[in-house]
Amino acid sequence: MKRPILTIAIVATTFFSQAQKKTIDQRVDSVLKLMTLEEKAGQMNQYNGPWAATGPLTNDDKLIDQIKEGKVGSMLNTTGAVRTRDLQQLALQSRLKIPLLFGQDVVHGYRTIFPIPLAEAASWNLEAMERSARIAAIEASAAGVHWTFAPMVDISRDPRWGRVMEGAGEDPFLGSLIAKARVKGFLGKGFGNTDAVMACAKHFAAYGAAIGGRDYNSVDMSLRQLWETYLPPFKAAAEAGAATFMNSFNDLNGIPATGNGYLQREILKGKWNFKGFVVSDWGSVGEMINHGFVKDNKEAAMSAANAGSDMDMESRAYIQNLPQLVKEGKVKLTVVDDAVRRILKKKFEMGLFDDPFKYSSEEREKQQWNNADHLKAERDMAKKSIVLLKNDRQTLPISKQTKTIALIGPFIKAKSDNLGFWSYDWPDDSARIVSVWDGVKSKVGTDTKMLYAKGCNINDTSTAGFAEAIEMAKQADVIVMNVGEARDMSGEAKSKSSIRLPGVQEDLIKAMQATGKPVVVMINAGRPLIFNWVADNVPAILYTWWLGTEAGNAIADVLFGDYNPSAKLPMTFPLTEGQIPIYYNYYNTGRPATSDSDRFYRSAYIDLSLYPKYAFGHGLSYTSFSYSDITLSNSTIKSTEKLIAKMTLTNAGNFDGEETVQLYIRDLFGSVVRPVKELKGFQKVFLKKGESKEVMFTLTVDDLRFYNDKLQYIYEPGDFKLFIGGSSDKTKEADFKLVK
Ligand code: GLC
Repeated sequence: MKRPILTIAIVATTFFSQAQKKTIDQRVDSVLKLMTLEEKAGQMNQYNGPWAATGPLTNDDKLIDQIKEGKVGSMLNTTGAVRTRDLQQLALQSRLKIPLLFGQDVVHGYRTIFPIPLAEAASWNLEAMERSARIAAIEASAAGVHWTFAPMVDISRDPRWGRVMEGAGEDPFLGSLIAKARVKGFLGKGFGNTDAVMACAKHFAAYGAAIGGRDYNSVDMSLRQLWETYLPPFKAAAEAGAATFMNSFNDLNGIPATGNGYLQREILKGKWNFKGFVVSDWGSVGEMINHGFVKDNKEAAMSAANAGSDMDMESRAYIQNLPQLVKEGKVKLTVVDDAVRRILKKKFEMGLFDDPFKYSSEEREKQQWNNADHLKAERDMAKKSIVLLKNDRQTLPISKQTKTIALIGPFIKAKSDNLGFWSYDWPDDSARIVSVWDGVKSKVGTDTKMLYAKGCNINDTSTAGFAEAIEMAKQADVIVMNVGEARDMSGEAKSKSSIRLPGVQEDLIKAMQATGKPVVVMINAGRPLIFNWVADNVPAILYTWWLGTEAGNAIADVLFGDYNPSAKLPMTFPLTEGQIPIYYNYYNTGRPATSDSDRFYRSAYIDLSLYPKYAFGHGLSYTSFSYSDITLSNSTIKSTEKLIAKMTLTNAGNFDGEETVQLYIRDLFGSVVRPVKELKGFQKVFLKKGESKEVMFTLTVDDLRFYNDKLQYIYEPGDFKLFIGGSSDKTKEADFKLVK
C-alpha cells in the first residue's frame, strides 16, 4: 500500500522541483527576451560607488541616470541597508526593473575584522575558517552586500608580493581545502537565505606568480605548472559552489587573463562546466590596452567578452561598445546572451527579483553591530592563527603573577593596525579594537606592574625613544615587544624588494636584548618577513600577523598560556630576498644538495645556506610532541587498494596542546619530475600532557595523481616515500610501492 503513495510523492516532488528549477531558467529567459541590446550591456556593467575606491577611479559618470536607464547591473564599494535600498529603488525605475547586485571586498570580516587570510591559513583549522567566512557573510549581508570578492585563492611562493596576506600560502592541497571552507562559509545554507553571500574565487589565474613578486606583473609558466600548482584551489572553489570568479590583472604566457579564452572558456566554463559568471578585476578590461593586447576600449570589450569575461568592473568598455560590436558581428549575440543569462540567474537565485530589498534591512544591520558571539569567534580564530616560531628556555608562557612586565614597541598600543589590509575604517572604531596593552591588562592582577615605551616609530630612523625603552626594560622581569608592519605595508600594490623589519625596529630589539632580561618578540605582518638577527638571538618569537578586532585578547591568551599556540606556517620564510622563490615542494634536480657544504649541487648559492629560516608547516607548542615510527598497512598497494599509515603521537611536555600532524608523499620516479614532498593530508590532534594517541591516514591512488606532460591527471606505478611530522622539514618516513 505504501509504495503507490511513496511513488506519487516522488513524482510530485520531482515535478515541482523540476518546475522550480525550470522556473528560474524560464524566468531568466522571459526577462532576457524582453531586453534591448543596451539593457543587456547594462547587466554586464559594474560601477564603483562614489563613497570609496579600491582602484584608480575613472571620470565621473551620470551614475544615477544610468541606473535608472538600466545601464548598470552591479555596483561595488556600496554598502549599508539605507544606501543599497535607495540605489535599488533607482534600479526599479528602469524599464525592466532588474535589481542591482552589490559586491564588496569582504575578505576577512566585515564589521568584526578577522585575522588576515594568511594568518587564518596558519591555523590549518578548516572549521574555524569556515565559521570566520560565515560570520563575515552574516554581517555583510545585513548591510546590503549580496556578493563578496573573496576568497582570494592565489597560490604564491613569493613574499615580496604584498597580496600573499590575502591568500592561503604556497601549497595547492592546503589552499584547495581552505578555498572550499571559505566558499562554504560565505554561502551558509545556500542561496535564498538572507545571510547567504555569493563568493568570488579570485584572481583567475596565477596572479600570485607575478615575476619578481611585483604586483600586476607578467606571469610566464608551463601549462603543467599552472595545472599542478595554481589551478587546484580555483577548481576546489568552483566545486564548493563559488557563484562567481574574478579574473586577474596579469598576462599569462602573453595573454591577459581578462582576454584569455583558454582560462575562462576552455577551462572554467568548458572542462569545469562552471555555471556562474566571471567579473573582471578593476578596470582590467580596459587595461588590456596598456598590455598592448588591444588597441582601444572597443577592441578590449570585444576581446574580453569573447574570452568569457561576463561583467566589466569599472572600465566602461562594455556599456560603451558591446551594442555596436554585436551590430558589427564582432561579438555574437549568443555571447552577450550567455553572459546576461549567467548574471540574471544569480539575481534570481539570490531572490532579488522576488524581493530586491531583502538584504537592505536596517534592523538586521543594527543587530550585527558589535555582536558578542562574533567577537568571541574572532578571538578564537586569532589565537589559533598565532605561530610560535621559537621558545628557548621556556621563556613563554609568562606567569600572570610576574611582578613587572615592560611592554615595548610601536604596536603595543596600536589599534587599527591590527586590522590589516582589506578591512574597514568604521567611524571612531578604535575603542572597539583590543590592543596588546588592553589584552595584557585584562590578564594580570593589580600586583603586576605594566611599563610601556613605544621605543621607536614603525618606519623611520629615529632612535630617540630607545633610552626610555631601555629604562623601562631595566625595571622589568620580562620584556614583551610588538614590532612589524603597519597595515598598509602588505596588500594590493604593496610589493617590496626588502622584507625586513621596517625602520629601526630591529635595533630596538637589540637594545632590549642587551639588557639581559628575557625578551619575547611578537611580529605583526601581512607576509613572511626577514629578521635573522632576532631569530638567532631572541629566546621567544610569536608571529602575530594582523589578527583583527580582538588581537590584544588573543595575543594575551597565548602570552600567558591560556591558549597553547598550535599554528603552523602556510608559507616558507626565506633567509634573504635573494633566496626567493623558495618553497618546500621543490624538484630535486640532477644535483641535489644534502647539506650546506655541498657546493656543486642543487644550484646552491655559494654565499648562503640552502635552507629557509622557517619551513612550510613549522610551528611550535608550549609542550613537545613526539612521533613514533610509521607503520604501513602494506608496503605494496595496487591502484584499487588503500594504504593505511599509522603512527603514535605523544604529548611529552607539560602543557595540554594541539598538534597539526602533516602527511606528505614523494613519488620517486615519474614521467615528469616530482616534488621532493607534497602535502596530502593533515590532522589536528589535541592531547593532554602525557597522553598518546594513534593517528591514522588513508591514502588512495587519487592522492598520488599529478599532471603529466600531456596535462593528463594520472598516477604511475612506482616507488614512493611517505612522510609524517609536525613540519615539512621534520618528518618520519616510510617506503611503499604502487603496482598496477
Ligand atoms: C582590486 C583587487 C580585487 C578587488 C577589486 C574590487 O583591484 O584586485 O581583488 O576585488 O579591485 O575592489
